[in-house]
Amino acid sequence: MKHLLSIESLTAPEILEILDLAATLKATRGHEKHKPLAGECWGLLFSKSSTRTRVSFEVGIRELGGDALFLSSSEIQLGRGEPIEDTARVLGRMIHGAVIRTFKQSDIETFAELSGIPTINALTDEEHPCQILADLQTIKELRGSLDGLKIAFIGDADCNMGRSWIWASARLGFELRLACPELYRPPADLITRAQAAGGLVTITESPEEAASGADILYTDVWVSMGKEEEAEYRAAQFGPYQINDSVVAAAAPGAHVLHCLPAYRGKEITAEVFERHAAAIFQQAENRLHAQKAVMTLLKAGV
Ligand code: CP
Ligand code: NVA
Repeated sequence: MKHLLSIESLTAPEILEILDLAATLKATRGHEKHKPLAGECWGLLFSKSSTRTRVSFEVGIRELGGDALFLSSSEIQLGRGEPIEDTARVLGRMIHGAVIRTFKQSDIETFAELSGIPTINALTDEEHPCQILADLQTIKELRGSLDGLKIAFIGDADCNMGRSWIWASARLGFELRLACPELYRPPADLITRAQAAGGLVTITESPEEAASGADILYTDVWVSMGKEEEAEYRAAQFGPYQINDSVVAAAAPGAHVLHCLPAYRGKEITAEVFERHAAAIFQQAENRLHAQKAVMTLLKAGV
């Protein structure tokens, strides 16, 4: 593994190796002898806001022995129109790895190609692989394994989280039910490709149908970063796609509710359901640190 650009570009063995190492790093935190980033400086290039991703990478890089440099696009020339191609060729000569949060997936692909340094997708409009890896780690912890998993994703199935879940299903072969308004379906060709690759993906307009017998109910914001102008329209469209008591009642007994955060109570999830499942949701947030440390360690090992 040279980069982490998407879940789509990972293999099942790579995902499982990341999860295994993440569990080890979680268990041994504070006692690590191996410092794979010693003497290195990694750059965090962010064009969108972040709490979890920024902090978990900054802390994780330091715990692996490296230094982290936070580079907001509004403070570097990238934000004034310097091409990503030039930014990549400059930074590739100075820093040892890059963690990028931006809009276009093609920008991180270009950066990875031209910089020559390990590059990690910290969220684009198309994928959020780091979040999915932490989510899979959490689900393994909660259920003991990923075998026979049934996940219902309710909300904006065409956002980065929905799409990354689709590829996780394709790679690991678990059942993924998407519940979303017709207008927010992921592109049909993406679903077809994921199904052909082994993804057990179905789409419905009924949250209850998707939730029926599911082990995990998952949601994300209705208004992803960059879509703020559509907020009012989206609120109307997604109104029926809330995780509330009636959707939870349709799920399997003991089902877990997960959310990548930030959460908007009263929108994609009720305050009551959120608080009842807060332990698992914040476990997910913590696992960002462990999963990403595993990713960086494996990128350095070049496997
Ligand atoms: N879930 C997630 O990526 O959170 P941040 O936007 O705070 O990084
Ligand atoms: N879909 C959300 C994820 C936030 C972590 C967004 O892109 O804003």
